[in-house]
Amino acid sequence: MKALLCLGFIFLATTVHGRTMTKCEFARLAKEHGLSGYDGVSLENWVCAAYSESSFNTQATHYNPGDRSTDYGPWQINSHYWCNDGKTPNAYNGCHVQCSELLGDDITKSVKCIKQIVREQGMEAWVGWRKVCQGRNLSDYLRDCHL
Ligand SMILES: *[C@@H]1O[C@H](CO)[C@@H](O)[C@H](O)[C@H]1NC(C)=O
Repeated sequence: MKALLCLGFIFLATTVHGRTMTKCEFARLAKEHGLSGYDGVSLENWVCAAYSESSFNTQATHYNPGDRSTDYGPWQINSHYWCNDGKTPNAYNGCHVQCSELLGDDITKSVKCIKQIVREQGMEAWVGWRKVCQGRNLSDYLRDCHL
């Protein structure tokens, strides 16, 4: 019984590899993936965008009843325009990626897609960024992270 429980935890730990990161964990990861200054956007802005959209929960999903689309991952990438989840009507899949690949602590696919989004639409594509980050002093988002 004990061994079984233990196995269960190992299984969970290796399959559900997403979680809510701390600000600095997320900022470091974002920097490692080349987001600092990408397309003229500071690292603070990328971190704030993820905070505003998901609070750094890499498993975050949000369903939009209006167009029956879903937003995926730390930057809440939308299935109507950017990724394929096989259930969104009239979807484009602009990033040529499965939405499920945008979830979890490996943010590689999310970063590739947000780089395309910012090139095509700018940061204004993120409603959360417009509300929470745009035009603000974002120094708190990297404070004490030693980056
Ligand atoms: C932003 O705020 C910090 C303190 O919170 C301050 O040190 C810094 O000068 C501010 N930056 C700008 C551009 O106002």
